[in-house]
Amino acid sequence: MTTLPLVELHLHLEGTLEPDFIMRTAAKNGVSLPWESVEDLRSRYEFTDLQSFLDLYYTNLEVLREREDFRDMTDAYLRRAQQAGVRHAEVSVDVQVHTARGIPVEVVLGGIRDALDESEARYGISTVLLVAFVRNHPPEEAQELLDHLLRTGARIDGIGLDSTEVGYPPRLFAGVYETARRAGLRLVAHAGEEGPPEYVVEALDLLHVERVDHGNRSLEDDALVDRMVRERIPLTVCPLSNVRLRVVDRMALHPLPGMLARGLRVSVHSDDPAYFGGYIDANVDSIREELALTDDQLETLARNAVDSAFITDDRRRVLHAEIDEWAAQRGGPQSAN
Ligand code: HPA
Ligand code: ZN
Repeated sequence: MTTLPLVELHLHLEGTLEPDFIMRTAAKNGVSLPWESVEDLRSRYEFTDLQSFLDLYYTNLEVLREREDFRDMTDAYLRRAQQAGVRHAEVSVDVQVHTARGIPVEVVLGGIRDALDESEARYGISTVLLVAFVRNHPPEEAQELLDHLLRTGARIDGIGLDSTEVGYPPRLFAGVYETARRAGLRLVAHAGEEGPPEYVVEALDLLHVERVDHGNRSLEDDALVDRMVRERIPLTVCPLSNVRLRVVDRMALHPLPGMLARGLRVSVHSDDPAYFGGYIDANVDSIREELALTDDQLETLARNAVDSAFITDDRRRVLHAEIDEWAAQRGGPQSAN
């Protein structure tokens, strides 16, 4: 049985740092961390909300100092993603967190590009690179970084918005997104993970995002759901993340089946796989088992991801054809169109 071809659309590269990589890189770079060992670090992976996770995530990414560290982090992710059946990956990086620590933008993006540029040849995975702005930093800082990226011709494909959500509404970043849109960059933003449905509306109306990351709390607003169905707005849902960050109480209660039933363009992704108990394959396994999703529903999720990706029509056709092959092998009904 071929594995289901997957498309990763919601992945923070810093969230792929595994404990052994963190401890090894800390030792190499002479960075002192508050953890005594890999086991000690692992024992901290209990979160009560988004902020409790972000605190650990920001502590650990301190180990990244040199261009090769960013390359190695990215390459390790791509290698793991290949095992999971990923055929296309759209990855994001929190550049401001690194520049705030004195690491030049060119070191961060240079190292990541070193790995991404090898990805097709090495792993057969096409890639897209998104710079996520840190919403709890001032919008002026985001604007400055974006201007720098555009002025220097940085090889990025789009922008996102992440980190602490509540208290930092999308409207603060309308100017930044306007600049990015005029420059032809693709636009996504986290909204409605912990923040209210109004933040999702702002992301759509004021930032003009093409995809919403998470978006779980959209379900609290029927008119918003109807609109998202009508406008075919993609939602990148991250089930294991939602359980670990207490966005949902447990997997069996995840709203994904309801989202599918309402006709939302949802797809399943991994967010910060090193922290949340698994990569995209583990997310798919978990929803398959605990939500009793059928192969038809998994096929819909996979096709939604392909349709939501920032890729050429040719690449989209190739990926749909691979899903056709998977569907034919499992002997189930294929989609009508
Ligand atoms: N939400 C918001 N910001 C983030 C996340 C997340 O799940 N992961 C890394 N930055
Ligand atoms: Zn995220």
